[in-house]
Amino acid sequence: MDFPLSSQLVNRLDYVESTGSTNTDLVAVAADCPDLTVLVSGHQTAGRGRATGRQWSSPAGSSLAISVLLKPNSTPGQTLPPTSFGWLPLLAGLAMARAVGQFIPAENVAVKWPNDVLVGERKISGILSELVSDFSGVVIGAGINIGQNQDELPVETATSIALEQTTIGDTATPGKDQILAAYLGELRALYSRFVAAGGDAVASGIRDEVVERCGSVGRRVRALMPGDQELTGVGVGIDDTGRILIQPDGERELFAVSAGDIVHLRHN
Ligand code: BTN
Repeated sequence: MDFPLSSQLVNRLDYVESTGSTNTDLVAVAADCPDLTVLVSGHQTAGRGRATGRQWSSPAGSSLAISVLLKPNSTPGQTLPPTSFGWLPLLAGLAMARAVGQFIPAENVAVKWPNDVLVGERKISGILSELVSDFSGVVIGAGINIGQNQDELPVETATSIALEQTTIGDTATPGKDQILAAYLGELRALYSRFVAAGGDAVASGIRDEVVERCGSVGRRVRALMPGDQELTGVGVGIDDTGRILIQPDGERELFAVSAGDIVHLRHN
C-alpha cells in the first residue's frame, strides 16, 4: 500500500501489511531511527491497549495501526526537559481528534482525557504511548477505526469513520492515506509548536487547545486508580504538566491525576 500524502509529512514512513504490534516493532528499532519515523500497519495480531493486558483488535483492511517515534532532543541544540514528554500523548489525542473532525462533523469529536478520541460517547481511536528504553523519545501508537461496520467492532461503544459517515449520509469513506496524512499533518504542526516553545505547553497555547477539545473537562468523571480506588467528581481543567484536575464530590481541594496514575477514566 502506498502513502504518498503521508510520506511527505515525516522523515521516514514504513508500511507492513500485518505485524504483532507496531509499537513493539518501532520501540525495538527506535535507537536507529530519526525523529518523526512512522510505522503503519493494516493489521495487528497482538495490538496492545492502554490497560494492562488489554488488546487493541484491528481486523485486516478496515483500520490502521500507526506508531510515530518522536525524538525531540535528537535535533542538535534542542533540549526539551524530559518532564515535558508527558505532553506528547496529549498532543497526539488532540491531533487525532482534529484529523477525525476533517471527515465527520468536528463538533461531535472530542478527547476523553488523556487521549481516547470519541464521537459522541463512542470511541473511534485509542492511543498508547511508550517511552523508548534509552529515554531518547516516545513512541505514540494510535489505532483508528476506519471502515468497520458495527458487527466488526469489538464493543458496542466503538465506532468507525464509515459508520459515522453513514449516520450523516455521506458514504464515500476517505482513503487511508488521506486519513493518515490528516493525523500526521495535525501532529506535526502541534509538535513543531511545542518544540519551538521548549516543551512548554502553556506558553505555546497548546494546553488551552487541549482543554478546549477535551470532553472530560466540564463534566462528571470517575477516575479508576490502581488498587480499586475510585475518585468521582467533575473534571475542571488540565494543569501545566498535563494532569487532569478533578473537583471531587464533597471536597474543596482539587485533585490532580496523571495519565500514569490512572487505570481508566470514565465519563459519568
Ligand atoms: C487504548 O485505547 O487502549 C489504546 C490503543 C492503542 C492501539 C495502538 S494501534 C498502534 C499501536 N500498537 C499497539 O500495539 N497499540 C497501539
